Amino acid sequence: MRPRELWRASPFRLTLLNGAVFAVALVALLGMIYWRTAGYITRQLDAIIVSESTMLANGPADTLPERVRAAVAADGRAIAYYGLFSADGVWITGNVRRLPANAEADNRPRTLNEPGLQPGARGLVRRLPWGEQLFIVHDAKVLTGLRDIIVNALMVSGALILLLGLSAAALLSLPALRRVEQLRVASRAALAGRLGVRLPVSHRRDEIDMLASLANGMMDETERLLWEVKSVGDNVAHDLRTPLNRLRAALYRATQDASPDEAGRREMIERALEETDELLVRFRALTRIGEIERRDRQACFEAVRLQDVLEQVFELHDPAAEELGVAIETRFAPEAPAVFADPALLFEAVSNLVDNALKFTPRGGRVTLRLLALDEGPRIEVVDNGPGVPEGEREAVLNRFYRSQRTLEQPGSGLGLSIVAAVARMHHFTLSLEDAQPGLRIAIDCWPRGLEA
Ligand SMILES: Nc1ncnc2c1ncn2[C@@H]1O[C@H](COP(=O)(O)OP(=O)(O)OP(=O)(O)O)[C@@H](O)[C@H]1O
Ligand SMILES: [Mg+2]
Repeated sequence: MRPRELWRASPFRLTLLNGAVFAVALVALLGMIYWRTAGYITRQLDAIIVSESTMLANGPADTLPERVRAAVAADGRAIAYYGLFSADGVWITGNVRRLPANAEADNRPRTLNEPGLQPGARGLVRRLPWGEQLFIVHDAKVLTGLRDIIVNALMVSGALILLLGLSAAALLSLPALRRVEQLRVASRAALAGRLGVRLPVSHRRDEIDMLASLANGMMDETERLLWEVKSVGDNVAHDLRTPLNRLRAALYRATQDASPDEAGRREMIERALEETDELLVRFRALTRIGEIERRDRQACFEAVRLQDVLEQVFELHDPAAEELGVAIETRFAPEAPAVFADPALLFEAVSNLVDNALKFTPRGGRVTLRLLALDEGPRIEVVDNGPGVPEGEREAVLNRFYRSQRTLEQPGSGLGLSIVAAVARMHHFTLSLEDAQPGLRIAIDCWPRGLEA
């Protein structure tokens, strides 16, 4: 793990940030303790010097120098200073030899900034009733000691926070970075073309897992699409081979036949033309699907009266139905609302459905073309009583080139329903296949999927 990667990891930065916030809080806490304690100690010092000045001032004046010297002698810790001065400030006795610079003899404790004293030392000057001045000082060694303790604690805890913070940050980041490394390895394999590879997802379901699941979903979809493209390619190759082989055989026979009569040659050329036409039909259908899928959705959209579209489909197929001996009937709900759609594409889709129904329903059967007005919107249904499509094949018949084994004797290239599916997809309509017992019911729900009430 490179230090730069560690530094970029969010758990690392978060833990460090946490440590910094904690350190600031600690400094604030210790500062507060110092400030409050210093205030308390100062008040104590003031109380001491005020009570000492009162004690000394209240005694007899003639014994005062004596008592001042006794007080100096009694201070074993060398933290107190006493000085007795004449009315005009000349030293008389005591262990302090001059009054502070701007002394006011008002008996009020003040902070003294005199050389030799600790910062925060407190002192007062009192003028005695007979004119002399008494100067009492208490040094602030306790305060200095307290400051030292707090600065010391800050340094030690600061070093500890730094050390613990860095280790905790590294420890917390390593598992996350290790998982990112696993993701990197897996993605590299996927990039190298191994489509089956998925990103590892742990049981923790944390944010990395969420991202990995998301990426896996995308990879699933990409793999599915790639397989679809591949199978379309395979199917195209497979499906076009038969007519191409037949075409080749017809042409080969034409070259081999040494003395064909005019009628024979004509027949061979016509067969070759038929095969070419079939090939062209298949190519056209294929390009048509691509065209529909690429089409600018809204370009040809307009308000479409579905009755009109279905009427045209009916008129187009009615003669063929008669020829095939299949009855075709229409049932339109007059109140079905108009839809916003591409009428030419809808016509093409419904035409394909009716074409299938007529093709697969045996003579004597019945095909119904219906328009229903549901609460959500209009629905187009094409129902027949032919062989139907078994449940297991209902999705497959929508794929390009898929033709059921049971209907192979009927002509076709398996592209009609793919066109219908592409049209439905492009309109965000829903295509569904159901059992009509007997037969097949194909419905197009003409309202955008997912937007229904
Ligand atoms: N009404 C139906 N009844 C029974 N089977 C059907 C019906 N419609 C479609 N199928 C089945 O679905 C398959 C796919 O239909 P699709 O319309 O895509 O292809 P096709 O009709 O075989 O060929 P094409 O439409 O390209 O000429 C058909 O081969 C058939 O097996
Ligand atoms: Mg068809």
